[in-house]
Amino acid sequence: MLKLKNISYSVSDKKSKIEILKKIDFTFEDGLTYAITGPNGSGKSTLAKIIMGVIKPTNGEITYNGKNITALSPTDRANLGLSFAFQSPVRFKGLTVKDILELASGKENNLTETCHYLSAVGLCARDYLDRELDNKLSGGELKRIEIATALARNAALNIFDEPEAGIDIWSFDALVDIFSALKNKKATNIIVSHQEKLLKKADVVIVLDNGKIVNAGKPEEVLSTLAPSYCDKLRRND
Ligand SMILES: Nc1ncnc2c1ncn2[C@@H]1O[C@H](COP(=O)(O)OP(=O)(O)O)[C@@H](O)[C@H]1O
Ligand SMILES: [Mg+2]
Repeated sequence: MLKLKNISYSVSDKKSKIEILKKIDFTFEDGLTYAITGPNGSGKSTLAKIIMGVIKPTNGEITYNGKNITALSPTDRANLGLSFAFQSPVRFKGLTVKDILELASGKENNLTETCHYLSAVGLCARDYLDRELDNKLSGGELKRIEIATALARNAALNIFDEPEAGIDIWSFDALVDIFSALKNKKATNIIVSHQEKLLKKADVVIVLDNGKIVNAGKPEEVLSTLAPSYCDKLRRND
């Protein structure tokens, strides 16, 4: 169980203090899939980064299975079973797709499994295994590889920040299938998304607005309460 207690995050410049997250309290139960949505700039990526330890909250406490992890580094959190896929994937020069998938799964030379993760994200293993993670890969390809890596990690808790970003329509349906498959595993999943199809797959939809959780509940309850203009935007993205 992941618990956020009174989490605030603010940044200061010379003139003023900007409050990005404001006293967030929320408990993520084990084995459920959560979708976080809300307008651009509402604090979704900041919250995801705080859960992973990339940035530390200005106030508040995070506990994971009863342990206070507020001061832990992302690596220490990863060792406890938390896995994070960034909104903008990271490139590692010199490392191949096969290397990174093997690193993630902790198993070498398991070609069948490695190929399975790549096909799950709509990539042909034959074309990609030996590709380097350099700037010859497009943003969309990197994004899919990063999702494959998250699947290979088989972590207890997965966080995805806008997995749909840079993914074309065809592979978007594949992505929806991936999240259905993830939901059927025992892991806890937290997915930041604007996509109605992904939001509908969640057990709980959390709406963030202006740094606060303004609603959380079953998709059928929460989606109908979103402002019509926001839903129109979601549909346009379909
Ligand atoms: N380090 C920072 N310094 C100043 N402003 C920031 C910083 N990080 C985020 N913000 C601002 O905080 C708000 C929330 O950002 P973000 O969490 O990325 O939103 P979202 O992912 O919901 O679009 C935005 O207005 C963003 O510009
Ligand atoms: Mg974001």
